[in-house]
Amino acid sequence: MKQIQQLDELQDWVQQETSVGRRRVLVPTMGGLHEGHLSLVDIARQQAGKEGRVVVSLFVNPTQFGPNEDLGAYPKSLEKDRQLCEERGADLLFAPEADGMYAADASVGVSEGRLSRGLCGGSRPGHFDGVCTIVSKLFNLIQPRAAVFGEKDYQQLAVIRRLVRDLNYPIKIIGGPIVREDDGLAMSTRNQYLSPEERSQAVVLSMALLQARQALDGGERDMLRIRGLVERVLSGSPLARLDYLETVHPDTMQAVEEPGDALLIAVAVFFDSTRLIDNLCWREEG
Ligand code: PAJ
Repeated sequence: MKQIQQLDELQDWVQQETSVGRRRVLVPTMGGLHEGHLSLVDIARQQAGKEGRVVVSLFVNPTQFGPNEDLGAYPKSLEKDRQLCEERGADLLFAPEADGMYAADASVGVSEGRLSRGLCGGSRPGHFDGVCTIVSKLFNLIQPRAAVFGEKDYQQLAVIRRLVRDLNYPIKIIGGPIVREDDGLAMSTRNQYLSPEERSQAVVLSMALLQARQALDGGERDMLRIRGLVERVLSGSPLARLDYLETVHPDTMQAVEEPGDALLIAVAVFFDSTRLIDNLCWREEG
């Protein structure tokens, strides 16, 4: 597996790969890799086929962090991440330096104005502007045929689909299912911030969503009751502080009054200063 840090070296590589007709599939990450990220590398490998190139980018993007968030503390484990990418069959790890991606006086960005307003966009103002900007830059630099994003960040996936549609990027966006720990907790780089007590209580997120799924599958359509169920399970953890619980359409992120044919239940919960998110995307069968 090749590793590149410099932008000009990356551009040379991309040009060379393009000239021999090799398609690229991109998996953008911020490192601190776990099985959730690596499952996306597997999907990328499948998409790229034997001849194609799987590119993993690893960059802790400062513009998507708020002033009081964990940018400085974000886990860094480049050597381990490199090994994991290699083991999973990635062809290139693009890991630019912290100040390598933005000019000091950068003044152009990309923002999405509809899907990114609520949920994480509401709690983290400017977050999705940072995400859209860095993802656009990665798309422009790497020019992939396809890119893989996790459903763990369902709103992000929806925003990226909109970005690609509205800016006409010729890139197929692929969603990968949420990978969970044995007890149901969605894997996240931020799980390592949790104390043992917080870690054991963090299971309430997935438990709450599982109960909602069972209720929906059992025919429950009363949104207040579904939300009540979720809230009740979450409140079983004394350490959990609810940031948001939203019931929206998974494609538009607009609040829905009743489940209809599709429903996204998205939750964000603080354990002390650690913010965890999880979601359930439910679609009526048939
Ligand atoms: P990061 O949090 O590192 O996540 C990288 C990708 O891994 C995202 O697409 C995310 O949805 C996916 N992912 C994380 N945990 C997952 C899990 N448990 N199961 C499945 N997929 C999971 O998301 C970002 O980085 C950044 O915003 C980025 C897109 C790289 C832009 O900076």
